[in-house]
Amino acid sequence: MSTTTAIEKSEEKVYPPSSEAVAHALIDAAKYDEMYAASINDPQAFWNEHGKRIDWIKPYTIVQNTSFEPGNVDIRWFEDGTLNVSANCIDRHLPTRGNQTAIIFEPDDPKEPAQSISYNDLHRRVCRMANILEDLGVRKGDRVVIYLPMIPEAAYAMLACARVGAIHSIVFAGFSPDALAARVNGSDAKVVITADEAPRGGRKTPLKSNADAALLHCKDTVKCLVVKRTGGQTTWVDGRDFDYNEMALEADDYSKPAEMSAEDPLFILYTSGSTGQPKGVVHSSGGYLVFASMTHEYVFDYHDGDVFWCTADVGWVTGHSYIVYGPLANGATTVMFEGVPTYPDASRFWQVCDKHKVNQFYTAPTALRALMGQGNEFVEKCDLSSLRILGTVGEPINPEAWNWYHDVVGKGRCPIVDTWWQTETGGHLLTPLPGAHATKPGSAMKPFFGVNPVVLDPHSGEEIDSYPCEGVLCLKDSWPSQMRTVWGDHERFEKTYFSDYKGYYFAGDGCKRDDDGDYWITGRVDDVINVSGHRMGTAEVESALVAHAAVAEAAVVGYPHDIKGQGIYCYVTLMNDREPSDALVKELRQWVRTEIGPIASPDVIQWAPGLPKTRSGKIMRRILRKIAENDFGSLGDTSTLADPSVVDDLIANRAG
Ligand code: WT7
Repeated sequence: MSTTTAIEKSEEKVYPPSSEAVAHALIDAAKYDEMYAASINDPQAFWNEHGKRIDWIKPYTIVQNTSFEPGNVDIRWFEDGTLNVSANCIDRHLPTRGNQTAIIFEPDDPKEPAQSISYNDLHRRVCRMANILEDLGVRKGDRVVIYLPMIPEAAYAMLACARVGAIHSIVFAGFSPDALAARVNGSDAKVVITADEAPRGGRKTPLKSNADAALLHCKDTVKCLVVKRTGGQTTWVDGRDFDYNEMALEADDYSKPAEMSAEDPLFILYTSGSTGQPKGVVHSSGGYLVFASMTHEYVFDYHDGDVFWCTADVGWVTGHSYIVYGPLANGATTVMFEGVPTYPDASRFWQVCDKHKVNQFYTAPTALRALMGQGNEFVEKCDLSSLRILGTVGEPINPEAWNWYHDVVGKGRCPIVDTWWQTETGGHLLTPLPGAHATKPGSAMKPFFGVNPVVLDPHSGEEIDSYPCEGVLCLKDSWPSQMRTVWGDHERFEKTYFSDYKGYYFAGDGCKRDDDGDYWITGRVDDVINVSGHRMGTAEVESALVAHAAVAEAAVVGYPHDIKGQGIYCYVTLMNDREPSDALVKELRQWVRTEIGPIASPDVIQWAPGLPKTRSGKIMRRILRKIAENDFGSLGDTSTLADPSVVDDLIANRAG
């Protein structure tokens, strides 16, 4: 077995691909260069060929028809083709791999048996769910909200929507009733699919009672389909609530896949931005599936028979593209894990890898940092010899975590693919390919096929052609799984992504490009923070805080956090008649958890008698960020503040 050794290069390690990785690889360096050049020089021809990796009912004749032009942003791929995504993920595999395992379900409690769901089983389950949805009145184009634990029924529900042509919108099971209601109403959904309870880390979240609370704020006509996961007690509203388990016993085993246009939306997924409330990112059927399946195959070097595990939740885009759609379109075996990395103890991830002989493992830096702190014995007691590729996603990975992943988990034999992408991009845009590229701790390395990244000067908006360089990351041209619009608000889509830098898609991230041409993401350049790989708008947390009767004003920033990457630091100005207290800190924390969800729970609350504002009333967040970072030396110019003395007060009373 060959291990890769680092070449020390000006303080930075470089790991060339091991001979083992190269020998195994679907794409080697020469093939990457050839295909990448072809994809950029003639995208129409390239995607005309690669669009055929999925099955079309009516083949497309038009490949790319896209415009980033301000006022006229329009993204279409394969627009005259028709297909069904569920048939691509299931039916087309039945003749050759009906008995192969499609989904391995690993429950929260390791004592509960795992389940293997074959492609034949999957077909039956999805058809039944599709028939149930039709019984509930769901038709092509209707929206269905999915609020489920990480159980196979979540995948059945997604694929059943795709089968009948309904658009799903998954709400992460950790979100609050208020967040759920906003998403049901935002997409005018007909049905909410939920479960009695969600077991996670030995605890149970009462999903059905959350859904009950949410539905009080939704139209009376919204129906609720309930999966029995734990059998826990729930209240029941006759005529509104429907028992999935009972209906599935009666439902027909066949449902004809609807013929959908490539550009019909497959799903909506809400994500946070720098302003306002979360927006519904809309993804298409055809282009999305082509790109999700292609990246899944090449980035993870997925071969027939491999067992692939992505530890994300289907409530995030990573779960959509790399638990469900990418792997299943490729006829893969995909693991669905209901639990958390530290339950019952910090060896759970590695035990599951051992138990199911996982070949590709894909997780987030925050999980690695948490596990790294628990000690190596949790890893070393498991047999991880099946692992071949390791992946990371969600936030910049610090070199310590990367090295630990590489050396302790991968024993120096497994290439690490650091994949940079976003809810909006649908699939990986920057990443090394395991048999083609060297890897460097902390670098997302190279563009995937068809991806044309540029580094822009943030002030002039000009492309920077020199190496090394630093600036903001933009994409010069479209790729098939690019988001198509913001649900119900195309203007917001244009304004958010295409107005700061005309003619480009602006990702919101800063980046460096080194003198080898490799990309390093430096983090968000807007008011979006990344907490444990979860994206959050500081504006959302602020508006939750000011909704509390005691709060007059709030400003929220991120600050470096050892495990979470970034923590949530809140400056709160109270109403005149309210006094600061520890009890009020607790109350506000709980308040934000109920308004948004536990992932938005403030780490630090500092009482601020005043906030640093310019004379025109704009809060200078730069200063608040520096104070939260404990970096008072470089506050910059504070002379333009309306009242510079508030800064001294904030420094003197810095919390945490
Ligand atoms: C933001 C997107 C894509 C699925 C998970 C998050 C950050 C994502 C990386 C990476 C550095 C990364 C960026 C991006 N991000 N992957 N490999 N290295 N940063 O999806 O919630 O839409 O967040 O996550 O800041 O803009 P998301």
